Amino acid sequence: MPEVTFDAILRLARLQSGTVARRDESVDLASLAASVHEILQASAEGKGHTLDLDLPMMPIEVQGDEDMLSQALTNLVANAIEHCPLPAHVRISAGLRDARPFLEVSDNGPGIPEADRARVLERFVRLNASRSVPGTGLGLSLVSAIAALHRAELVLEDNGPGLRALLVFQPRAQVATVLTKV
Ligand SMILES: Nc1ncnc2c1ncn2[C@@H]1O[C@H](COP(=O)(O)OP(=O)(O)OP(=O)(O)O)[C@@H](O)[C@H]1O
Ligand SMILES: [Mg+2]
Repeated sequence: MPEVTFDAILRLARLQSGTVARRDESVDLASLAASVHEILQASAEGKGHTLDLDLPMMPIEVQGDEDMLSQALTNLVANAIEHCPLPAHVRISAGLRDARPFLEVSDNGPGIPEADRARVLERFVRLNASRSVPGTGLGLSLVSAIAALHRAELVLEDNGPGLRALLVFQPRAQVATVLTKV
């Protein structure tokens, strides 16, 4: 078994069994997205894809583990880069929708048929379309385990064409508004 596969299996087992502690720090999803973009842009563009970044002007804060969330976002971007034929347009975004912080990776590749969107989250599941692409089928299982540890939802959608993968976090506590009578 290649070392990298063994390492991913071990990490997944630890995440799923709860034997790894999730740090509870304040994480700005906008700067996290910007650093993942900066790290991966050269390799994406070296292959012939474009990797864009779409961020709001404000920080998007969640409580969580910055390393785990960077790993999750990196896996989603790596999938877009690996599974889309050249030249693809890949976009990383972060933001707030209905008071819920999100991270998003969208591409214009082949996408994942609706019937397969649940099972690709299971370990070692790879679609036939990806047979020629190297990989172990663990990337999305890791993202799913990291999402669960953050009580975030991992949503795979049709990007018409392509895939849109979203990590949607719990709503931010609403700021209490005090109405004063005049
Ligand atoms: N952006 C995408 N576009 C099309 N298919 C995708 C995309 N992301 C994932 N898939 C499909 O889902 C399968 C599972 O993805 P996953 O990340 O778990 O494994 P992998 O990329 O094949 O291997 P690994 O991430 O372990 O190197 C992929 O093999 C591919 O068939
Ligand atoms: Mg992958």
